[in-house]
Order: sequence, then C-alpha cells, then structure tokens
Amino acid sequence: MAGAYVSNMAQYNKMYRQSLDEPEKFWGMMSKDFYWKEMWHTLNEVNFDYTKGPVSIKWFLGSKTNLAYNALDRHIEAGKGDNIAFYWEGNDDESRAYTYNEVYEMVCKFANVLKSKGIKKGDTVAIYLPMVVELPVAMLACARIGAVHSVVFGGFSADALASRVADCKARVLVTADGVMRAKKLVNLLDIVDNADKILKADKEANHKLDSIIVVERNSKAGPLKEQHEPWNKLMAGASADCPVEWMDAEDPLFLLYTSGSTGKPKGVLHTTAGYMVWSATTFKYVFDYRPGDVYWCTADCGWITGHSYITYGPMINGATQVLFEGVPTHPTPARCWEIIDKYKVNQFYTAPTAVRSLMSFGEQYPEGHSLKSLRVLGSVGEPINPEAWRWYSKHVGRGQCSISDTWWQTETGGHMITPLPGATPQKPGFATKPFFGVEPAILDPDGKEQDGACAGYLTIKRSWPGQLRGIYGDQERFEKTYFQLFNGANEMISKDKYITGDACRRDKDGYYCITGRIDDVINVSGHRIGTAELESALSQFEHCVEAAVVGFPHPIKGEAIYAFVTLEQGYEMTPEVQKALKQVVRSEIGAFAAPDKIQFAPALPKTRSGKIMRRILRRIAAGVTDVSEFGDISTITDPSIIDELLENAKHAS
Ligand code: PRX
Repeated sequence: MAGAYVSNMAQYNKMYRQSLDEPEKFWGMMSKDFYWKEMWHTLNEVNFDYTKGPVSIKWFLGSKTNLAYNALDRHIEAGKGDNIAFYWEGNDDESRAYTYNEVYEMVCKFANVLKSKGIKKGDTVAIYLPMVVELPVAMLACARIGAVHSVVFGGFSADALASRVADCKARVLVTADGVMRAKKLVNLLDIVDNADKILKADKEANHKLDSIIVVERNSKAGPLKEQHEPWNKLMAGASADCPVEWMDAEDPLFLLYTSGSTGKPKGVLHTTAGYMVWSATTFKYVFDYRPGDVYWCTADCGWITGHSYITYGPMINGATQVLFEGVPTHPTPARCWEIIDKYKVNQFYTAPTAVRSLMSFGEQYPEGHSLKSLRVLGSVGEPINPEAWRWYSKHVGRGQCSISDTWWQTETGGHMITPLPGATPQKPGFATKPFFGVEPAILDPDGKEQDGACAGYLTIKRSWPGQLRGIYGDQERFEKTYFQLFNGANEMISKDKYITGDACRRDKDGYYCITGRIDDVINVSGHRIGTAELESALSQFEHCVEAAVVGFPHPIKGEAIYAFVTLEQGYEMTPEVQKALKQVVRSEIGAFAAPDKIQFAPALPKTRSGKIMRRILRRIAAGVTDVSEFGDISTITDPSIIDELLENAKHAS
C-alpha cells in the first residue's frame, strides 16, 4: 500500500528483527512519539519463572507520564484542539460531533467531580455505561488523576456488577439511566439499584458504594432517585481546570475483569507506560492510521477492544473516530455501510460474528453503498472463518482493502499477531505474523518448542510492553494461570513462558492461524465466558444437582453454549425448567451468556478420579451420535451414561 508506515515485508522483517535483537534501540525509537514528563532509563525488568522469585513485569522504568495528557493536552498544545475526536452515532437517528477541545473540557470537569467525591490516585472507580461519549470521558478522567478504572460491560447483570464492584472495592459508580439497544430499552438504573442492594446485603463482601453518578440518557428508565446524582448537575458545578497527576511507569491504569477456566472472573491489571506505548503503537501500525483518517471500531468500551482501540490507542494518536451506541443490524442491516459512507470511514474494525451476521442478510446491503473510503478492515475476538473473511474482503473491501485479522487478548493489552496493511501478504483464516517485540513459541504436548510448520500450544517467550502485570489481589493465580502449563497427567511442562490459553498452527511461511482455546473457556460472539462461571450460575437453580457446560459450533456466533444439567430426583426437564435455567444465567451473569441449548443429564460422564469428560459432552453437543467418534472412552466410570445422554440430546432446547 503506497505510503503505509511499513510498506513491504523486507521492512517488516528488518523492524521485527530489530525489535527482538536491539529492544532498547527499537523501543527508544517508538517511545519518541509520546510525551514523557520524565524519560525512562531502563527498558524492562522481567521474571517469568516463579522458581526464581515472584513473576514480575516492569517496563520503561524511571519514567513519568500520563495517558490522558498524551490523549488530549498534547494534541491541543499542537494546535489540533478543533479536530474531531468523536463522531457519535446514537442507536437511532441522533448524532453529534465532539472536538478534542470539548472532550478535554469534559475530562477535566469530570476528573474534578471525581476528586470532589474523594477519589484520589490509586482509588478505583467502577464504570457501567452504554456507548455514550461520557464512557471514554470517564475513563480518561480517571487516568488524568491517577484513579484506576474498572469498566463493567453494560450487558452484565446486577449480580455480576456487584461482584466486580466488591472485588475491586470501587466506592464510586458511573452509570446511565437507560439506553435503547436496537428496539429494546435497557434499564441500567434498575440493574445498578439491584447491585447496590446485593452489596448492602452481602456481609462477607463488606463493601458498599458511596456514590452513584448517573448520565441521563433515556428517561424512559424512570426518574432518578435519592441515591442517584445526575452527571450534568455535577459537571455544571465543576471547574474545567484539572492538573495532571504524573504517574510512574508501573502505576495501575485499569482493571478489567475477564473469564478464566476456573473460579470467578479475574481482574486483569494494566499499568501506565507499557500499556500506553503498546496500545498506541499497535493502533498506528496495524490500522496504518494517518492524520485525517476516520477510524471506526464497533466494540464496546466494556471489553478490552474498546479500551485499547477506542479510548486509548486512537486518542493517543489524535485520531478522529466514530463512536457507535447502536447495533450493526438496527434499524436495517445497512446501518454500518451507511455510517461508513456518512463519515468516509477509512478503517473499520469489528468482530467475525458481526461479519457473519451481516453476511446472512446478503451482499446487496454493502453493495448498495460506495464504501470507497475504506482502506483497512479489521477483525477481532474470535477466529474468522475463510468464508466470512472472503465475503468481508470482496463485498465490503471490494478487493481493495487490507484485511487485518488481529489476534490478542485482554491480558495482552493490544495486538500480538496481525497483518500490517500494505506489508503482509494475506491468507484467509490466518492472523499472519507477530507484531514487533512479540516472540511466539509453539509447544508440543511435552512442552517442547517446535520449529517450522507445526501445531500446538501458543505461548510467548518474552515480555512485551502491553502485557498484563497481574490479577488484582491474587499473585498466585496470576502465576499459575499464565506462567505454568500442565499436561493431562498434571505434570508441569512449561514455567518460563506466557501461556496464552490458545492453540495454533504455523504454516511453512511462518504464518499463524489461531485454532481456539485449550482451556474451558467458550468464545460466544467474541465474548469470552468461563464454563466454571456458567456452571456455578446454573447450580443456583433450586433443583439443579450438577451442571456441565461446553461450547458447540454456531454459524453466526462462532460458538454457542450447551448445558447438561442433572436435576433432583423426581424433577423433569420440561420447557419451563429449561426456561428457568436460562433465566438463572441471565440474572447471575447477563443475557449474552444464556445457554443456547439445555439438555437433561441423568448423570455426567466422569473418570474414576471424578473429572467430567468434557470431550464426550462436546461431541454430543456438536450433534455426533456415533460413539466410535467419541475417542477413548475406556476411563468412564459408567459407559451406559453415554446412551442415555444421546437419547436426552434429542430434547435439548
Ligand atoms: O481465543 C482467543 C480469541 O479471544 C480470546 C481473547 O478474548 P478476550 O480477552 O475477551 O479478548 C478479545 C479481544 C482481543 C483469545 O484467547 N481471539 C481473539 N482474537 C482472535 C481470537 N481467536 C482467533 N483469531 C483472532 N483474531
């Protein structure tokens, strides 16, 4: 691509080699793009191996900086304050543009509001908002004064919200009254009030909210009550002058809860300098963002994609972006294409689920629009199947766009394996090559690193600036989850690499294709959901004895949720019980996690040591009926269970 930051593979290879061989020089060059109150003196100090001391990751030591300063003040001082930061598009026909000057003023005022609530450096603020401009504003206001934000996706239930607020000990919660999602009103106030009640009643959590600040977005959610403080009223009384808190490199920036294979969601911790450099550098190179471009990421700021590629990466680059409150299919399946033409969007970043869903309506929708401003089409969150990749490239990109299948995780802070537009020749289904500084290693079942074309566990050999620094309040879980890999016989096969939890394949050209999780995490429409969380939610149903959950292939969502539930003696799996079980998950986690199918399990298939044989359940969920395709079933305690499960699978719903 003419004029791209990296315009061919020779240049990519040279930069990539330098990033590994001379990291000080490489990151020295890259970090020139930022404002540092004090420059770093030591690039990093890292220990991945727990036998040599606590796992610890530090980058850009000795520096002082601030992400909000880099995202706002720096651009305004450079005379770019009148540039558009956000073209906000509402769920229906509302829209509004916000300049960098306007966002700066809102951020400073809200930072002062937070201070007036007693928030100071190191305190946590919970944010539970829809995609209104106040969401990135609240995040940047926290960053400005050194408060740690913990954004909870607006689709989570009251229980899930309460447990996250209690875990991170947030005393202030920022929310909205209500919001329309397509044609449905989501009453956030009701959810927040329920979460507040749950917290007050939970003696064990021993935590309560002092302040609930409410953005008045949709009055249909009902009037504000005594415990709610209107955002506008607080902002009206706040000064627009708020000095920046200069942060040390490893001062916490945010917590973001994500699902793992066991236990409750974990608060992934990202810190200041490394995350800033990683989110902004990956944004610039992976989207080939150039001044004047208009970029649009359809993610919600409640997930890591919205953190790194709406609030931080683009803003630090001074980008102009679309901020979208709605859903891609409302009011028609042409919504995205209309917005792209309206703002002449150059980079569009979405999830394979959205592509597959739009694809199902037919190519006449994208074909009916010009879309000629598009240069880069990004994909994130789950594997993109070659069919969807080709449709995206042909009907949206008109064969003229670079398709960026970006592989990364909440924990990685930003892109890890991804094409660079203009440089990387593409292959459908491949996330292609590692970004600068990323050194993947594929391990075999014995933990041995493999060469050349191969398949196995995807690990990363050395630290990169955007890597998570810990799990909030749980160093042991952090070390066990990300730095120790065990085989089926529970022997440790790796202890000095970052374990991604994904499997992958590498071809003869050194291209990576991510094939899916190796742990019990399900990826539904790009949303990561732990089976353990789902099972613990289902077990809240009063007549549930035991539940096991697996994923099964779904044409739009990628994976869908299938639950096997054992009920108390004498209870039948009627359609009402199936509905009630789904409702339990909605209220414990959120509607997006409700199982797609539930079937009765007289018992669960287990090994003699009591381990659930999920492999068998996955086959049944995928519709396999021939037991010879189930693999080795010799370790099952009671083989007759398989026939009973297959019989009951006919009534799954
Ligand atoms: O399994 C991988 C999948 O999503 C997981 C990370 O989920 P989360 O932390 O919620 O972050 C999602 C947004 C970055 C990964 O472990 N995943 C993400 N991107 C891809 C992917 N799988 C295949 N291809 C991708 N491009």
